[in-house]
Amino acid sequence: MFSLMTQNSASLQGPFLSRNSAPLSGAIAAPGDKSISHRAFIFGALAKGYTQVSGLLESDDVLNTGRAMEALGAKVQKDAAGRWSIEGCSGKFESPATDLDFGNAGTGVRLVMGLVAGSGIGARFIGDESLSGRPMRRVTDPLSDMGADVETTEGRLPVTITPSELDGLSYAPPVASAQVKSAILLAGLGANGETEIIEAVPTRDHTETMLKLFGAAIEIEPRDDATHIRLTGPQTLTATDIAVPGDPSSAAFATIAALITPGSEITITGIMDNPARNGLYTTLKEMGADLDMQDGPVMSGEKTFNLTVRHSALNGIEVPAERAPAMIDEYPILAVAAAFASGTTHMPGLAELRAKESDRLAGTALMLANNGVIVEAGTDSLTIHGGPVPGGGEVETHHDHRLAMSGLVLGLGAQAPVRVDDASMIATSYPEFLSHMAALGAKMEPAK
Ligand code: S3P
Repeated sequence: MFSLMTQNSASLQGPFLSRNSAPLSGAIAAPGDKSISHRAFIFGALAKGYTQVSGLLESDDVLNTGRAMEALGAKVQKDAAGRWSIEGCSGKFESPATDLDFGNAGTGVRLVMGLVAGSGIGARFIGDESLSGRPMRRVTDPLSDMGADVETTEGRLPVTITPSELDGLSYAPPVASAQVKSAILLAGLGANGETEIIEAVPTRDHTETMLKLFGAAIEIEPRDDATHIRLTGPQTLTATDIAVPGDPSSAAFATIAALITPGSEITITGIMDNPARNGLYTTLKEMGADLDMQDGPVMSGEKTFNLTVRHSALNGIEVPAERAPAMIDEYPILAVAAAFASGTTHMPGLAELRAKESDRLAGTALMLANNGVIVEAGTDSLTIHGGPVPGGGEVETHHDHRLAMSGLVLGLGAQAPVRVDDASMIATSYPEFLSHMAALGAKMEPAK
């Protein structure tokens, strides 16, 4: 099936420009959540039986995870737009004949390393230039502690895992990372004995929620200022159907586009409402954003809401550092909102931004500075002095989809158009971004 699929990025290749737009209006459905879409492919492939997924995000990152699941022996099939079925391997994967290429996706590569190590098979993991520069020891070290035979290239990709038997591990990740937590829990499913994650700072809990949906025995206990997540291996998952809720991280772009474009009123439907993901919306309300949230249906264990956003006069605020894990992917677009706010916005606790698809702390600061915004970048903080945004500058995306989308939203409210050096990476997380923005009335076009 995957041989029939092309990557989405081709149509977005090259520089794009955005400019002042008439008021945005209309409604869009939030695209499927990326984190849950990756996990739907992974858990479906691991489980016994058929998993049907609806609302899957068909972005390049997620499709790479689907291809990897096929390479491990699962049968992955597209039935209709967003509807996929997976025939799982009941825990019995085979070592793939070729390298597993995850493109730009940290979630795909890190979770599947845990999956492969725990399944007693081997594989070689590769990715694009951006992913090849990102730290992998945060996953390979605890996997080695479980008994995995893992070779890295100075802590980066390529990573090679050779078949070995794992034992459970009690592990307190030194960084707040759902990817690390999830990789170790996936390895623990195939390991002998108990695996425990001791999480001091809560991170997105989709792995825990979905493991329960797939019938895993998993205990979650808050104790001594931490959450203890335990499971005992080996365990086999049972297939279940998954309805993917909308992605709050992707919905953030249209939300802020409407907030900064005078006269706008838009609605975004089906956004996942999870406390470990909704820090941006809390922050925007504190800044004075007019956000009207109405409850939607519960989808595969996740609440959802429909959001109506109206253009608002925003105020600068202090964003609490402890909120960072609940909005870790939203700082570049929050920085755009802060650029249009009156007063200063200070965002501390951002060390992890330097380990994303690019050094997002530096990239966000440069995006704003190149467009006339006064911004100070600390080692782990950003301070943005808001006001009218001159624009007229270039945004260097460094293979980072969120910088590309943030730069294009910046141009909607800026006095002069903003140019983004390459929009192709947008396809890794939100292939419908440009068509959604056009439907709302935003002016974004290929740059000459
Ligand atoms: C993700 C976890 C986060 C986030 C990423 C998706 C996940 O990464 O930035 O976009 O699906 O588990 P970290 O775990 O590295 O913080």
